[in-house]
Amino acid sequence: MGTKAPLAILISGRGSNMSVLIEASRAPDCPYEVVLVASNNPDAPGLALARAAGIATFAHSHKGLARADFDAIIDRALRDAGVRYVALAGYMRILSEGFVAGWEGRMLNIHPSLLPKYKGLDTHGRAIAAGDAEGGCSVHVVTATLDDGEVVGQATVPILPGDTPEALANRVLVEEHRLYPAALSAYIRAHG
Ligand code: GRF
Repeated sequence: MGTKAPLAILISGRGSNMSVLIEASRAPDCPYEVVLVASNNPDAPGLALARAAGIATFAHSHKGLARADFDAIIDRALRDAGVRYVALAGYMRILSEGFVAGWEGRMLNIHPSLLPKYKGLDTHGRAIAAGDAEGGCSVHVVTATLDDGEVVGQATVPILPGDTPEALANRVLVEEHRLYPAALSAYIRAHG
């Protein structure tokens, strides 16, 4: 296998998906290497996990900045690190159109629902309230519309009687950790 594609992961919180993406990147046949973990939250617990894994980190608070100005700061950090692909992993910021356009076709996200159902927040509570038999997660290409781009991978779990949003979230998270490295790797292999 030739050179691995340089990948950045954007996080805002605990970074469990980030951790499995880093872990998967160590495999010799993985098509990406993680060159940067960046966050809008300097206190994100995932930043310490990334550093412990030997990955460079960049953190800058979005507070007090216009969306496009903040995104330009993140964009600069990604360009400086030579990034080719971006993986959003619990990144809780709506992205500006300019930023999204600059990474068109090279930025993926994981969302904890079976898209196109339940875009946005409280996905598990809404799936339970609707009486759905299944929940799940989706990996999709990021476009300027929230949680809307082409879905490139999905995993489903049953919704059980008496499920709480927390119990369902935990069941889905196990699948997220399987799905994201696999779907991201397949996407990068297909797109170069
Ligand atoms: C995950 O459920 C992901 O699908 C959603 O935010 C959560 C992030 O969790 N976008 P983690 O930070 O990866 O642990």
